[in-house]
Amino acid sequence: MVVGKPFLTVEQIQSKNRELAARISADYRGTNLLAVGILKGAFIFFSDLVRLIQIPLTIDFIVASSYLKSETSGEIKLHYDIREEVADKDVLLIEDIIDTGISMNYIRERILNREPRSLKICTFLDKKERREVDVPLDYVGFEIPNEFVVGYGLDYDNQYRNLPYVSIFKKTT
Ligand code: IMP
Ligand code: MG
Repeated sequence: MVVGKPFLTVEQIQSKNRELAARISADYRGTNLLAVGILKGAFIFFSDLVRLIQIPLTIDFIVASSYLKSETSGEIKLHYDIREEVADKDVLLIEDIIDTGISMNYIRERILNREPRSLKICTFLDKKERREVDVPLDYVGFEIPNEFVVGYGLDYDNQYRNLPYVSIFKKTT
């Protein structure tokens, strides 16, 4: 397999993060923000983004996985769930990528059952044309075409997460 040149560069990513963080800081001023990172994929985006948000917040995580390698199976397994109280919180879910929307829809429904004060979604990438389940997205970093991407937290078979930029993944045999 080949991991090629950047599809999104470090500079493009950081500039987008600053823009998203400025919007989030303004929108959530005076609220009780709980930023929730969806792991593993969002670990880098999450930590870059929260460091740029300029209002008080608390953090927690959800660790979830869907099964197959580059395909989404539609089955989601939850390994760790939010332990913070959510009932009085303005929850912002922070995800690496929305593809079919199945994972985020599942996570969103679960959290809504716990009746947060508000719930919004921030995703680094949106692969819109693959959507099967409609999920409302409040903050989107980049809309990308239907290509499998790795880097900046995103993986193929748990590899390439540490690439500092996003690259289109091509598998060669
Ligand atoms: P969904 O349930 O189809 O929206 O799948 C979302 C999850 O699939 C993401 O959180 C990623 O873990 C994974 N995923 C989808 N597309 C890609 C990709 O292009 N690269 C890496 N992971 C992806
Ligand atoms: Mg993910």
